[in-house]
Amino acid sequence: MAAPLPLPDPAADPSFAELIAQRPHLGADAFSGLMVEGVPLAAIAQAVGTPTWVYAAGALRRRARALTGALAASGLRASVHYAVKANSNLAVLRVLAAEGLGADVVSEGEARAARAAGIAAADIVFSGVGKTLPELRYALDEGIGQINLESPEEAAMLSAIAAARGVKARVALRVNPDVDAGTHAKITTGLAENKFGVAIDQAPALYAQLAALPGLSPVGIAVHIGSQITAGMAAYRAAYARVAELVRALRAAGLPVEQVDCGGGLGIPYRDEPAPSPEALAGAIKATLGPLGLPVMLEPGRWIAGPPGLLLAAVILQKQGAGRRFLVLDAAMNDLVRPAMYEAWHGILPVAAADLVAPVSPADVVGPVCETGDTFARDRAMPRLAPGALVALLDAGAYGAAMSSTYNLRPLAAEVLVDGDRFAVVRPRQSLSALLAAERLPAWLA
Ligand code: LLP
Repeated sequence: MAAPLPLPDPAADPSFAELIAQRPHLGADAFSGLMVEGVPLAAIAQAVGTPTWVYAAGALRRRARALTGALAASGLRASVHYAVKANSNLAVLRVLAAEGLGADVVSEGEARAARAAGIAAADIVFSGVGKTLPELRYALDEGIGQINLESPEEAAMLSAIAAARGVKARVALRVNPDVDAGTHAKITTGLAENKFGVAIDQAPALYAQLAALPGLSPVGIAVHIGSQITAGMAAYRAAYARVAELVRALRAAGLPVEQVDCGGGLGIPYRDEPAPSPEALAGAIKATLGPLGLPVMLEPGRWIAGPPGLLLAAVILQKQGAGRRFLVLDAAMNDLVRPAMYEAWHGILPVAAADLVAPVSPADVVGPVCETGDTFARDRAMPRLAPGALVALLDAGAYGAAMSSTYNLRPLAAEVLVDGDRFAVVRPRQSLSALLAAERLPAWLA
């Protein structure tokens, strides 16, 4: 006999009305249904089809200002370098560049996207545990403002290239503070066992080596302990305190330290979990690194780009399984992989006004890909939805489109930017013909 259906716990999951109320860029009315800023999502689906990523420019601007504002209000000299990996769409980058943000990049592609959006090379930080020789050459040619080195091996590679060109690369040393950020194991980065940075107790000797190597000009220390950090400020404070101690030791040894790169990682409430504010982060930085009197840099990705984005999808069909109701969407794990990869919870809202107020019962919301992991939500309180009904998967602006693939030969979804009551396609849906035309047969099989 099948186990009784677990009922959705209304105390655990926020209601549709709460999900909307907690997101200032969302609204709904009886005429238009769910809207992003001034644009009904039904209008976007009609014009562009589904699945489609939708980004709210106003929300991006508000969040960029909230972060820079909190840092300025704390009295810190701080610059924000948006982590392009979260969402590298050119229009998103352009909105953030216009807010005065710099960029944190981990590939030549991301650096080129940031430059194309109008971000000055000097305002770009190049992070990453394995930059290739061509990428290091590109960074020098382009005049990238800071290259974060993660190993002595990488320092030697960059030193050789820079010295051969007769230039000095501005570098920071990324340290691994061995602090547990209390986040998902796949996105924690500041533990000694992780591949990132150099052990903090080896940093003084390594930093002195950097200063002695030709072609390198060490300008600071960088640290990043993980992503989706929601467990308060304790881990941040512990990491920054260790960095402050390191900077004092470097100074005492007569080594130059101009700035500290504080990384990213600030979490957001996907469900309704408590999440720290930019003010709390600014306070943690001020308390630990403030006494050094140095400018600080921040590399937030998710906090800026996550909440402003959603994935608009349509119901293909509703299927009754053995004791389970399945809503099969035309979006799948190849579009939004976070639930499959990190057991992530994303809010899911119906779009039609009538569906937003219809009676709900538990349903599994799934994609059509041939994997059980292609499940966006289990036992979610959802109305009955007819084929073609629209739904929005929330808080998908960060690590959504950026992580999507063409698995099952599904074309990459379209991307749309909403700005007030305007919207535009900022990346057209990949055509099936373009997807298939990319491949070649070897001559002997043709
Ligand atoms: N700086 C560095 C060196 C990083 O490695 C990262 C993220 C960031 C900044 C930005 O972190 P954020 O502020 O966005 O947390 N795909 C995962 C997240 C991976 C984060 C990787 N590094 C997810 O969907 O949850």
